[in-house]
Amino acid sequence: MANEFAKPVQLLPKEAYLSDKWFEAENELLFSRSWTYACTEVEVANPGDFVSFVFMDYPMFVVRGTDGNLRAFHNICRHRGCEVVEDRGNCGSTLMCPYHRWTYELSGELRSRPNEESCFEDGKDSLALKAAAVGTSAGIVYVNPAEDPPESLGSWLANMEEHAWPHRFDDGSMEYAGEIVYEMHCNWKVFYENAIDGYHLGYLHDNTLGKLYPDRNIWKPVGRNVVWYSTERDGPPQSNSILSADISDGYGATRLAGHNEAFYPGVVMLFPLTILSPSPWGFYVSTLEPATPDITYMRTKGWAPVGSAGRFDLSGVDKPIKLEDLEEHPLESGNFQIEDMWIVEKIQRALKSPKFEIGPLANGDGAEGPIMHFQQSVLDYLGADVGEVV
Ligand code: FES
Ligand SMILES: [Fe+2]
Repeated sequence: MANEFAKPVQLLPKEAYLSDKWFEAENELLFSRSWTYACTEVEVANPGDFVSFVFMDYPMFVVRGTDGNLRAFHNICRHRGCEVVEDRGNCGSTLMCPYHRWTYELSGELRSRPNEESCFEDGKDSLALKAAAVGTSAGIVYVNPAEDPPESLGSWLANMEEHAWPHRFDDGSMEYAGEIVYEMHCNWKVFYENAIDGYHLGYLHDNTLGKLYPDRNIWKPVGRNVVWYSTERDGPPQSNSILSADISDGYGATRLAGHNEAFYPGVVMLFPLTILSPSPWGFYVSTLEPATPDITYMRTKGWAPVGSAGRFDLSGVDKPIKLEDLEEHPLESGNFQIEDMWIVEKIQRALKSPKFEIGPLANGDGAEGPIMHFQQSVLDYLGADVGEVV
């Protein structure tokens, strides 16, 4: 495979990781037009099924219409802005705001409002719920706050559908296992760049992920996204390292059927805030939630083979995991995510020092090359405004 990340260089200034202005620009120009994970298709299988969520500044929901079509809307009533639906469920054939009971069709049009004739003079036609973009791929529903985003779902996913993808939500092979939230004291890009840095895997994580040196793992670009494979074994790339396979088998975790069909990815970083982690022992979706320039939450939802806790037990954790609450040193946690949190918080502290300067990045698509690929996409979205932001 050609080295697509030869000779990487740092493209972003350090203000990009620290300043409120950058964070505001990212909200305005990047997150407002980005695709993100919403839910699985089976959660909105029937007319009236809905799932609500908040993506950055945007409360939204997806709903299956009486016509069978899936739609996404901003969860903001056109009267005084109350969230129209809460959590998830089935709303029947209409959506009703709880505040003053304005009622909408599942296609978004305003259908009726109490005391229509005595209280309102103007018509209802211009008061439909505001639409967001929605689409599906491999049983996952994605949304974009922009109704007409600059990149369609198909172009954003690039050729992802060409990758083998053995995980299904609709055939009874997997069940939802729960969610964990991590609170990380770092800029979201520090976390992201660490996640796509193949150079650290064999060193920071040698006890949790194995000896994944840059020539034994690769990040492959797929549009703005990057996907990771282990190349430790002979033959086609694999979705897991030898050590993590041994650890998971040691837990007694069940493998999914089709796990040994090689060449499905181990990590899919969907730019900018969604991370898919398919594995032989389950499936995980993580969404990054940048809260401030230096606080990022990550919400990880997991599915495991029916009857098995899978690789990680996601139950029983009811508050965000933070480094400061850990009783052991992160390197003794046996958890690569905790090891990563330990590092990214160090990087964020260092970024604030006037003495901080970025050194040379390690060449190659199994090393630090993907970092440049990522930074270029951030710059593409922020466009000409970057100069002003800096
Ligand atoms: S805010 Fe929804 S009906 Fe008034
Ligand atoms: Fe890591």
